[in-house]
Amino acid sequence: MPAQIGVTGLAVMGANLARNFARNGYTVALHNRSVAKTDALLAAHGDEGDFIRTETLAELVENLETPRRVLIMVKAGGPVDSVIDSLVPLLDEGDIIIDAGNSNFVDTRRREADLAEKGLHFVGVGVSGGEEGALLGPSIMPGGSKESYAALGPMLEKISAHVDGEPCCAWVSTDGAGHFVKMVHNGIEYADMQVIGEAYNLLRTGAGLEPAAQAKIFEEWNKGELASFLIEITAEVLGHVDAKTGKPLVDVIVDSAGQKGTGRWTVQSGLDLGSPISAIAESVFARGLSSQRDQRAIGQEVLQGHEVAVDLGENFVEDVRQALFASKLVSYAQGLDMLTSAGKEYNWELKLDEIASLWRAGCIIRAELLKDITKAYAADEKPANLLFAPAFAEAIGAAVPAWRRVIATAVQLGVPVPVFSSSLAYYDGLRSKRLPAALTQGLRDLFGAHTYSRIDVEGSFHTQWSGDKTEIEAEDTH
Ligand code: 6PG
Repeated sequence: MPAQIGVTGLAVMGANLARNFARNGYTVALHNRSVAKTDALLAAHGDEGDFIRTETLAELVENLETPRRVLIMVKAGGPVDSVIDSLVPLLDEGDIIIDAGNSNFVDTRRREADLAEKGLHFVGVGVSGGEEGALLGPSIMPGGSKESYAALGPMLEKISAHVDGEPCCAWVSTDGAGHFVKMVHNGIEYADMQVIGEAYNLLRTGAGLEPAAQAKIFEEWNKGELASFLIEITAEVLGHVDAKTGKPLVDVIVDSAGQKGTGRWTVQSGLDLGSPISAIAESVFARGLSSQRDQRAIGQEVLQGHEVAVDLGENFVEDVRQALFASKLVSYAQGLDMLTSAGKEYNWELKLDEIASLWRAGCIIRAELLKDITKAYAADEKPANLLFAPAFAEAIGAAVPAWRRVIATAVQLGVPVPVFSSSLAYYDGLRSKRLPAALTQGLRDLFGAHTYSRIDVEGSFHTQWSGDKTEIEAEDTH
């Protein structure tokens, strides 16, 4: 029997996706550049379902039913192009190439357009959930043509995570939309982890709570409105003791955060779109600063702190929880707002309720909160910003006093809270009646005749700053 899907690239993510398809009753043809990996997979898990072992891409393709579905799971960038180049001559019109890696959506758009000219479908699929998710049910965000989804979607839906019987997989929109949505998921993931880190740092440095005690606090937090995978695993990591030293593991891990690129891409793309994703950007910058270890070593010696001793108050832990929750809401609001901007820019019909629903389970940012976010965007009247949805406006409003107290305390203690504070600045910016942007416009007009609009009359205006300072109506010179 021919296979319904072929998988090439059998490192752990590819192998686990292949196993997931097989465990769900699909026949899966397997290929890897080195056959040893294919054989290792078959030796360890060959009894989990129907696999076809192949040694070359040509053999992989020969073993597939039509339209052929070939899933690539190789390193993003050049390796994806080179597998595509090898596959193209082997495929027929209507066949589908699926890139399930963390590819940059710009590449996906280019590849989709190139392959469409050749009569092939190219589907960039965002897959989240790490190794375990790939095996047991990830959150899946496919882009590409709608037509290709008809041939591919049911299979992806079957292997995805489910909530109340609904798959966490749906076609998000055309070309690179799937990878874009996954990229923004990762941007939110960065911010989510950073706010958890800021809460941990405050509780440790400010309140002197050791990791083991904090593990219990995070466990408790996971029972309330913060309930989420990342809070759950924070309790696990903080509670873990290093076997070698007997110290909390978190104390023996080097405090320099790595990054593979999706957070950085989110920020780059946010800048291109003019989308104010400040919390997400700060979380990427925080990783950058953490990894400047040489400079930090000097900074510890030469920079003065002038910290101020502060009374933390009786409810400091609860205050931190609320600050964490409010900041987390802001990062989701910014990520979703960026999706709205991207939808306009790239002509994608992104449905935010559907996207939030895909993130309810299977993915790294899965959280109870996503059920309410889904509801907020499913309402007849869609909020222009998540924070304006009545339930969220109320929830974040209730957290504001604690949020302000925590940031003020952090500033006095000299504990950096870049995402807590930039999130509050975003919130305050959104609710300000007047922003100093009016002054910015005045300055731009003075030094560059860039013009300004007036609050009382339509049109563009310029003050003749170097002349008699009268105002003239002007052509908009940006
Ligand atoms: C996921 C994860 C996954 C991966 C990140 C890690 O959704 O399953 O986001 O894609 O773990 O890419 O990214 P960094 O290495 O950049 O932290």
